[in-house]
Amino acid sequence: MSSSRLGLSDVSSGPLLVTAHRVDHYAVHVEEGLVARLAGLLAGLLDHLGSPDVVIAVDTGAAEHHLGAVTAAVLATGRPFHVVPVPAGETSKSPQGLDNLLRALHSHQTSRRSLLLALGGGMVCDLATTAAAIYMRGIPYALVPTTVLAAVDAAIGGKGGIDDAGAKNLLGAFHHPAAVFVDPQLTGTLPERQIRNGLAEVIKVALIADTDLFASLERHADRLPTGASLTQIIRAAIVAKLRLLAEDPFEQGDLRRLLNLGHCIGHPYEAATGYQVLHGEAVAVGMAIAAVHAHLTGRTSLADRDRILRLLDAYRLPTTLPEQMREPTWEGMATVRRVRGGPLHLVLPHTPGHCTVTDDIDRASYDKALSELAARP
Ligand SMILES: NC(=O)c1ccc[n+]([C@@H]2O[C@H](COP(=O)([O-])OP(=O)(O)OC[C@H]3O[C@@H](n4cnc5c(N)ncnc54)[C@H](O)[C@@H]3O)[C@@H](O)[C@H]2O)c1
Repeated sequence: MSSSRLGLSDVSSGPLLVTAHRVDHYAVHVEEGLVARLAGLLAGLLDHLGSPDVVIAVDTGAAEHHLGAVTAAVLATGRPFHVVPVPAGETSKSPQGLDNLLRALHSHQTSRRSLLLALGGGMVCDLATTAAAIYMRGIPYALVPTTVLAAVDAAIGGKGGIDDAGAKNLLGAFHHPAAVFVDPQLTGTLPERQIRNGLAEVIKVALIADTDLFASLERHADRLPTGASLTQIIRAAIVAKLRLLAEDPFEQGDLRRLLNLGHCIGHPYEAATGYQVLHGEAVAVGMAIAAVHAHLTGRTSLADRDRILRLLDAYRLPTTLPEQMREPTWEGMATVRRVRGGPLHLVLPHTPGHCTVTDDIDRASYDKALSELAARP
C-alpha cells in the first residue's frame, strides 16, 4: 500500500506526519538525541496551538533520569510551567490517579489552550491521554515516552485508558495528541527486563504487519538493540502501527483489531497477577498461546509456529502461563467478552506479517494450547 493512500508521509526520515479521519495532523518525531532539540520543537508547537503555559505530568520513575532535560526545554520556550509528579506503577492508572491529575490541572489554572506534556512510560501516557480528553472537554497534549513499550505502542494512536473494577482500560477515550516526541536514548536508563517487555510489542507489530522487521529481530536476537539499531527498530515498529491505524484511527474495523494480537489473553493474565507480570510479558504469553492454537487448528504450519516461539524465547520473553494462572486468566477472558459485548475476536498469527481475526477460543482448545506450551523443552 502506498504511504499517501494510508495518509502517512515519507517514512524513511523526518517526522512521520499522520492524517487520520476526523483527526488533525500531528507529528511523531523519532530521533536519537531528540531531547537536545526539544525546546525548539516545543516552541513551534506551543506557538501553533496558542498555548500560554505547560503542565508536565511525569512518572516519578522517569523523573529522576529525564525531568531535568525536559523542564530545561520547556523553560527555554519562555512559557510558565508546572510539574505534576505521578507515582510510578500501574496503580496510578486508576480513577484515583485520574482524579489527582485532573485536580492538579485545575489547581494550576490550566486552561483549554494549555499543553499537557506527559513524560514517562505507557502508564503516564495512558493517564495523560485520558485526562486531556476529558479536562474541560478536551485540551491539547503531547507525549515524551521514556520506555520502549510506550515509544512503540502506548504513545502511538491516541488511545487513553485507566483500569477500574479489576479490568484493564475499563475507562478511557480516544484523543489524538498534538505531537509525540520519541527519543530512544531516554530508554537507556531502563532495566533490561523493561527493554525486553517493550520488545514484545515490537515482535507483535512485526508479526502482524512487517516481515522485514520480524527478520531483523531474528537476526539481532543475540543481544539487546541499542543506539542506532534501537532507533531503527522503534521507528519501524511505529511506522507499522501507524500504517494499521491510518485507515481506522478509532478502532472500529479489523485492521486495528489485529493490534490486539496477544492481548485477549495477555490482558486478563496481567490483571490476574495483580500486574506483577509486565504488559509486554503478558502479551508475549498471549501471542504464544495464539500461535499454538493457530497451529492446532490448521491455520499455521509447525515451522511458522516454531519460528514465532523461537523469537519470543530469543528475547527471553515468557511463552506460557504458570499453572495457577490458568483458571483466573480464563475467568478474566469472560470479562473481556462481556466488555466487548460478544466474542473475544482472538487474533491468530499465520506467518510473520500475516494474522487473521477469529471469533473466539473454547476452553478445551485453551487448555490444549497451554498443555502443548508446558510440554516444550
Ligand atoms: N494506549 C495504548 O495503546 C497502549 C498500548 C500498550 C500499552 N499500554 C499501557 O502501557 C502501560 C505499560 O507501559 P510501560 O511498560 O511503559 O510501563 P510503565 O509506564 O509503568 O513504566 C514501567 C516502569 O519504568 C519506569 N520508567 C519509565 N521510564 C523510565 C526510564 N527511562 N528509566 C528508568 N525507569 C523508567 C516507570 O517508573 C515504571 O516503574 C500499561 O498500562 C498498558 O496498558 C497502552
